[in-house]
Amino acid sequence: MQNLDALIAEAKSAFAAVTDPDALEQVKARFLGRNGEITGLLKALSTLPLEEKKSAGAAINRAKTAVEEALAGRREDIKQAALKARLAEEALDVTLPGRKANKGGLHPVTLVMERIEALFASIGFTVADGPEIEEDFYNFTALNTPEDHPARSMHDTFYLLDEKGEVAQNVLLRTHTSPIQARYMRAHVERYRDRETMPEIRIIAPGRVYRVDSDATHSPMFHQVEGLWIGECVSFADLKGVIADFLRRFFESDELKVRFRPSFFPFTEPSAEIDMAFMGGASEGRWLEIAGCGMVHPNVLRSAGIDPEKYQGFAFGFGPDRLAMLRYGINDLRLFFDGDLRFLRQFA
Ligand code: FA5
Ligand code: MG
Repeated sequence: MQNLDALIAEAKSAFAAVTDPDALEQVKARFLGRNGEITGLLKALSTLPLEEKKSAGAAINRAKTAVEEALAGRREDIKQAALKARLAEEALDVTLPGRKANKGGLHPVTLVMERIEALFASIGFTVADGPEIEEDFYNFTALNTPEDHPARSMHDTFYLLDEKGEVAQNVLLRTHTSPIQARYMRAHVERYRDRETMPEIRIIAPGRVYRVDSDATHSPMFHQVEGLWIGECVSFADLKGVIADFLRRFFESDELKVRFRPSFFPFTEPSAEIDMAFMGGASEGRWLEIAGCGMVHPNVLRSAGIDPEKYQGFAFGFGPDRLAMLRYGINDLRLFFDGDLRFLRQFA
């Protein structure tokens, strides 16, 4: 029966024309279903004469098997194609290098601050803290710098705006860490009010400070570490000893020169700026100012409730960013705050 061959070919091409399993089952019904073409042929057998029935039946069954095989083959092809598409979609290149978790590191200024804290802790200083948004009173007035004092203009101050967009009265971004002195002395006096004698004050106060300032050795946001030692017989000689010893330990070197250059601060008397330079090497003879210091002014002690006849002491304010410049040989301080990872990674 040659029309059976045509039927097989037709079924094969119909199966090939579909690409998804549901459509294939629909096409299957057309040939093998209850009303399908092959089923129809089998039903029609009964109308044939007996001698033809046998051979025709065998031929139709062969055709049926061929169509069934073609169907099974196509089913498998569709399944494989779907699997291949999914594998391509979810492809994972196992030969790619893995993604590394980046290792963090401390900022060079943080490393320097921690080093300063550890060195001062070793000679009995504890760490005190204060707010970065500070009251005008603590930043200036309590430090012997009344409202009309010219020294206020030495600090180019960042003020804050209130809700109405006007310059807020009495608050500012602290221009130095010295207000922590004023706060700490008051709290200390309060704490020991009932005692005959007040224990010594020996603190450092590290933190961020702000000034309208920007060049290679000035950043608008920078750091200071305040120091304060008040007792019954703390002298300027102690100040010099503490500072010189600290610097030699900080830089792990005796090859450095420290100089106390007479200066002025409203809150200390006498006052000095501390400059340092390395002996030998490329930077020989180049002085860099690293701190301000002096004996705490009697007015500052008095305003905190401390009797300047009985107690005295010194204060200093270091620029740790400058110490970091010297320690790591950096010539522009602003590099520390640009957030350039190529620079910062060197310290991790
Ligand atoms: C003061 O701020 C005083 N409060 C220091 C002080 C404390 C004196 C206690 C007496 C007693 P001065 O403005 O000089 O002083 O700043 C202190 C140090 O901070 C400087 O020596 C310098 O190392 C650093 N410094 C100042 N301005 C900047 C800046 N814009 N960027 C980076 N470092 C700075
Ligand atoms: Mg100065």
